[in-house]
Amino acid sequence: MIAPAQRPDARRHLLGIGGLSPQEITALLDLSEAEVAVSRQTEKKKSVLKGRTQINLFFEASTRTQSSFELAGKRLGADVMNMSVASSSVKKGETLIDTAMTLNAMQPDILIVRHHSAGAVALLAQKVACSVVNAGDGAHEHPTQALLDALTIRRHKGRIARLIVAICGDVLHSRVARSNILLLNALGAEVRVVAPSTLLPSGIEEMGVRVFRRMDEGLKNADVVMMLRLQRERMEGAFVPSVREYFRYFGLDAAKLAHAKPDALVMHPGPMNRGVEIASEIADGPRSVIEEQVEMGVAVRMAVIETLLARAEGNT
Ligand code: NCD
Repeated sequence: MIAPAQRPDARRHLLGIGGLSPQEITALLDLSEAEVAVSRQTEKKKSVLKGRTQINLFFEASTRTQSSFELAGKRLGADVMNMSVASSSVKKGETLIDTAMTLNAMQPDILIVRHHSAGAVALLAQKVACSVVNAGDGAHEHPTQALLDALTIRRHKGRIARLIVAICGDVLHSRVARSNILLLNALGAEVRVVAPSTLLPSGIEEMGVRVFRRMDEGLKNADVVMMLRLQRERMEGAFVPSVREYFRYFGLDAAKLAHAKPDALVMHPGPMNRGVEIASEIADGPRSVIEEQVEMGVAVRMAVIETLLARAEGNT
């Protein structure tokens, strides 16, 4: 599912954080810094991707990720087309490949793909001639989210190595958690996950994280508190007794945040369920960097698209 480093064409895709070296991650973060500066200028447009075509192919509804990729492509000078496919769960494989082949015939240079099934984006990448970016596949990976989170952290803390990062909440259904665990471990952070047993994938310890089932213990001395959305749309049956109960034990409020370091950052990938996994006063409070994460998202996506196309065109 993850692009193996030995596959000769793997470098023209970004299918996951798995398969990236720490050096490659750092290079993407460094280029993202330059893209932040571009986005803060009055004239926000580069011409590196002039004449290139980017297609955003979203099989799952998305507002922020799709618009972030759209702006990223446009700021690089590409022509961007959005395709939202309301996919039926029947004949999924066929639909996916058919759509891929149709788009491939239109000669795009890069495809940004979100799909509700883990592995679907990697499968599609094998069928098309252009670069592919995984914008989230099921509960598998969401690599640009982990990169934008790392960029946000690095800009505040100056580094990733040796920071204590607590990832809290619905780890079971979260591609954001998986990609973050891989990236933060690759760059030498101490990663913790904090969740009720029902929301922890079995064997999560094997990913190199410490597991906590209580917020006070998991947040102790944390430099970063990363909250996850309770993904109720992915749940069949009762994973949590009630939303009120969940907030009481796992929702981030002032009392729980007091266990983290006084200068701890509060993060959330969005969209937030206020009053479910995070209290409004914390989401809008002085330690929250949630809006900044959105800004970093555009910059990171610019860096990823620019890097992949430079490789595909043999410029690196
Ligand atoms: C995340 C996703 O889709 O995986 N959101 C996002 O990319 N904006 C997290 C989530 O949906 O909870």
